[in-house]
Amino acid sequence: MKKTNFLDLGNQPFANNYLTKKNLFKKEKKYRLKVCFDSLTKLVSIEKIFSSKLMFNNTYPYRSSMSKTMIKSFKELSKLIDKKFKPKKILEIGSNDGAFIKNFKKNKTIGVEPCANVEKITKKLNYNTYPEYWSKKLSRKLFKKFGEVDVIYSANTISHIKNLDEVFKGINLILSEKGILILEDPSLLECLKRNTYDQFYNEHIYVFSTIGLENVLKKYNLKIFKIDKLDIHGGSNRYFIKRKSNPKKIHKSVAQQRKAEISYGLKNYKTYKKFASRVKRSRKMLKNIFKKLKNKNKTIIGYGATAKSTTILNYCNINNKTIDFFLDTTIDKQNKYTPGTKIPILKYLGIDRNKIDYIFLGAWNFKNEIFKKEKKFIKNGGKFIIHTPYPKII
Ligand code: TYD
Repeated sequence: MKKTNFLDLGNQPFANNYLTKKNLFKKEKKYRLKVCFDSLTKLVSIEKIFSSKLMFNNTYPYRSSMSKTMIKSFKELSKLIDKKFKPKKILEIGSNDGAFIKNFKKNKTIGVEPCANVEKITKKLNYNTYPEYWSKKLSRKLFKKFGEVDVIYSANTISHIKNLDEVFKGINLILSEKGILILEDPSLLECLKRNTYDQFYNEHIYVFSTIGLENVLKKYNLKIFKIDKLDIHGGSNRYFIKRKSNPKKIHKSVAQQRKAEISYGLKNYKTYKKFASRVKRSRKMLKNIFKKLKNKNKTIIGYGATAKSTTILNYCNINNKTIDFFLDTTIDKQNKYTPGTKIPILKYLGIDRNKIDYIFLGAWNFKNEIFKKEKKFIKNGGKFIIHTPYPKII
């Protein structure tokens, strides 16, 4: 393996480690967030990797159902799956609060979700969900109980797992011969194009490119046969994958995506170094925006206390002296504080333009949904601060 780091995002707390009032002054666990490129596999990953148990446990705050965008996306995908693949059994790895599996009949789905606090939401509704980490052992157990599955779906989960060998061996144990694996994760190409360096944090071990993912998949005789580009999470790819032995035709989208990645330079280390320089510039610009607004005594709040924004706020050293508070719809984040930067997070109850001038968009990946919701604030002259593709006020 030839891994070289290209980006240093400084000392960072765990991105989803929202602080309670009680532990606000306790020393937080921090790590150095560096991002590396492996010139052999073409995989991009963070350097320091923590155990899943430390990050994905029964205090995990993330809920897939918190956004209309995600609910709609899962609904559309489930219709497509039923129409195209007509599966008898579907398995979801990382089923969270059931936003995807709830689109299917209970006896048709199996969900695997290690964060028991989230998993129990679907368990209560009598879905077959397991509060466990995906592994070969679990796959064998599920196979014994349910037999093989025709579709496996996993969104924003595989990129969170260090041991890809365990992931794909487990998948191969339970996926039927003609079965389809659908993976969905942020696209490395889009991340570089849009300068969304906040895709990197302790939970996002990998940000996949197609060329990197193909290098992994071939070891397990799996092949991408179609790629859908999605706007989800700031530009994601939905990979449709089959067994090598399945004669299904390869759609042109695969060659197109591969070509786009190669011509952008995703095989070359220097592309990543250039990205790192843009990230540094981005930090300078964002800090300047905040400084200017604060000098004019403007009131700034945050919208969407995302894990991603933990990276931005800590890297740019933007804290509770600059942002008064964040608003977020996730109950488990409310009345807590952002990791490292200690900005209070309040329950979303609408926005009063008379009290607020600027909003830093932490949940920039839901920009369209949020702008629609905050029409009134915008109409009344309220402005947003966004860091992608470059920091600006809109
Ligand atoms: P998200 O960007 O999905 O994830 P991550 O934490 O992985 O970076 O998180 C979106 C957050 O924004 C989530 O905490 C819910 C919040 N949110 C709102 O408060 N209001 C909204 O209208 C939307 C769409 C999201």
